[in-house]
Amino acid sequence: MGLQRILVTTSKGGCGKTTISTNIASHYAKQGLNVRLFDHDKQGSSLSWVNRRPEEYNLIHGVDASRNFDHRLTRSWQLRVPPDTDVAVIDTPAGVDVSELAALFQYDDSVLIPVLPSPIDIHATAHFIKELLTVGKARKKMVRLAVIANRVRKNTVMYHALERFLFSLNIPFISSLRDTQLYAKAFEAGVGVEEINSTRNKIDIEQWAPIIRWLETPLVKQTAEIRPLFSQWES
Ligand SMILES: Nc1ncnc2c1ncn2[C@@H]1O[C@H](COP(=O)(O)OP(=O)(O)O)[C@@H](O)[C@H]1O
Ligand SMILES: [Mg+2]
Repeated sequence: MGLQRILVTTSKGGCGKTTISTNIASHYAKQGLNVRLFDHDKQGSSLSWVNRRPEEYNLIHGVDASRNFDHRLTRSWQLRVPPDTDVAVIDTPAGVDVSELAALFQYDDSVLIPVLPSPIDIHATAHFIKELLTVGKARKKMVRLAVIANRVRKNTVMYHALERFLFSLNIPFISSLRDTQLYAKAFEAGVGVEEINSTRNKIDIEQWAPIIRWLETPLVKQTAEIRPLFSQWES
């Protein structure tokens, strides 16, 4: 397996970027892979999670990437991922500049965009995705975008509005994660929800399955499945 890079990003705070980043890192660490979690947020939440990780769980390397984020050195510094890394998970702060963000993109990166099912968040996400595709030129670098609804309590009208929007852009809406205290519990314990020793996470493991499947589907196959990719923006 070559290096897989997974960026978790969106313009807003509090949507679940760190929660999703840490859970992806935990999933691949559990598989015995060498995982590096890059934290670009000055708040360092992902790093604090890594530091709380109990010794008996598979190791995850935390990388403090926050200091260089708004700096000219960012671009070259960014690419320095140690060669033994199987999976690089990249957690980003809120309010990140889209062109700065897009400078991090590499061919075949997977970009996961969490969104809360509220009108304000959906509006902000639509704006963010449009910027990624135009200013950030995401399609030129062949990054794969997907959206995850987070903290979903039940299907709402808003949620359908989001579905329609994503459908119009051929961006897959890959899963909805429920709102549950298990995420806060797992975060506090330095583990992922799937590593919690209880059957209470059964639903959550099921909700994560399509995300993992999508991450592991090769780009070539995806372009074939989701055709035409970003055709709305080709003009
Ligand atoms: N699916 C979820 N269910 C319950 N709480 C969640 C869920 N996802 C995130 N949270 C909580 O929401 C807050 C913000 O999540 P966080 O991952 O820190 O967002 P971000 O990194 O985008 O700012 C945290 O307190 C986190 O524990
Ligand atoms: Mg965060």
